[in-house]
Amino acid sequence: MIGFYAVGKPGLKWLEKDQHMEITTNVKQAKDALIKNKLIAIPTETVYGLAGNAFSETAIKKIFALKKRPEYNPLIVHIKSFAYLNEIAKDIPPDALKLAEYFWPGPLTLVLKKRDCIPDSVTAGRESVAVRVPNHLLTLDLLAQLDFPLVAPSANPFGCISPTSAQHVQNYFNKEIEVIMDGGLCVRGIESTIIGFEHNQPILYRHGALSIEEIEKVIGPLALQTNSDSRPNAPGMLSRHYAPRTDLHVTNNVNQTVKIFDGRKIGLLVFKDRLVDNGIIHQEILSTNGDITEAASNLFSAMHRLDRLNLDVIIAEKFPDNDLGKTINDRLERASKRK
Ligand code: TXA
Ligand code: MG
Repeated sequence: MIGFYAVGKPGLKWLEKDQHMEITTNVKQAKDALIKNKLIAIPTETVYGLAGNAFSETAIKKIFALKKRPEYNPLIVHIKSFAYLNEIAKDIPPDALKLAEYFWPGPLTLVLKKRDCIPDSVTAGRESVAVRVPNHLLTLDLLAQLDFPLVAPSANPFGCISPTSAQHVQNYFNKEIEVIMDGGLCVRGIESTIIGFEHNQPILYRHGALSIEEIEKVIGPLALQTNSDSRPNAPGMLSRHYAPRTDLHVTNNVNQTVKIFDGRKIGLLVFKDRLVDNGIIHQEILSTNGDITEAASNLFSAMHRLDRLNLDVIIAEKFPDNDLGKTINDRLERASKRK
């Protein structure tokens, strides 16, 4: 059999010659695919993105189709630098500039008034565009070599757990994308925080890898927008999201909930303490040191592992409701909603 080895953080991977998909760190290969309007997977510090040319209707259509993403759900535009922001957004509020300068490249997405060059298909017909500069060397290198920005939703089918490694992306999309750029495990492991503006006032649209506390240190108090399925503020924020196939229950009292599921195949997702109970098949401890940032970065990979064990139920411990605990609780709540 003819084949070759592709080098990547998860290990050497044998690819057969007739197999189209390649896991690689070769930026030129990624660039060539994008120029032909193909989709690739890119690493970011938050989660892997399914990327295409933001100015190409063909690429945008492919993203929606491959993710089975509803058309009303707009995409985030990834740009190479703060300096490029002016090319795609206008009338930028002073607080937005402050945040962008402070946090970019980084896990912060700003929703701003769009310029005409951004296609309506990217913004789902809205006058606003979501934009960020991702903080990953490979992807920044790629963006610097392109003369267009990239649209990139998380590289998972709509509603599923977000991918935090090249392998996760491959598990979802084996044949459908040609190039997966392998940037190792995502350092933050959870999506960017989204901030919008109304009358120049900042509003939190999505909890994410930057905590409210960190953002408020830079611009002062932040309004929170309540979320509903009928009119979600960031339209992708439906109540069921980030969900494993296995039923997931969130609880303040793990011991008690384990008893309720006695006799079933149970997996646990907990903050720092292992539970002594022989009936539990697998336990994922997100941070033995009780470090909330570490816990957030491990959340999705732990959910992916648990979901592959054919369990009857995943019992997840509710986190302290501050800092990144709020983001983790948000993801757990959505993962626990029934179909
Ligand atoms: O960390 C991240 O943000 C990752 C990486 C790949 O950058 N991307 C990501 O994209 O999470 P996605 O498509 O899974 O989530 C984008 C969210 C959706 O909830 C969408 O509704 C919201 O951003 N969004 C996009 N454009 C918007 C707009 N104009 N107004 C309000 N919300 C918007
Ligand atoms: Mg997503």
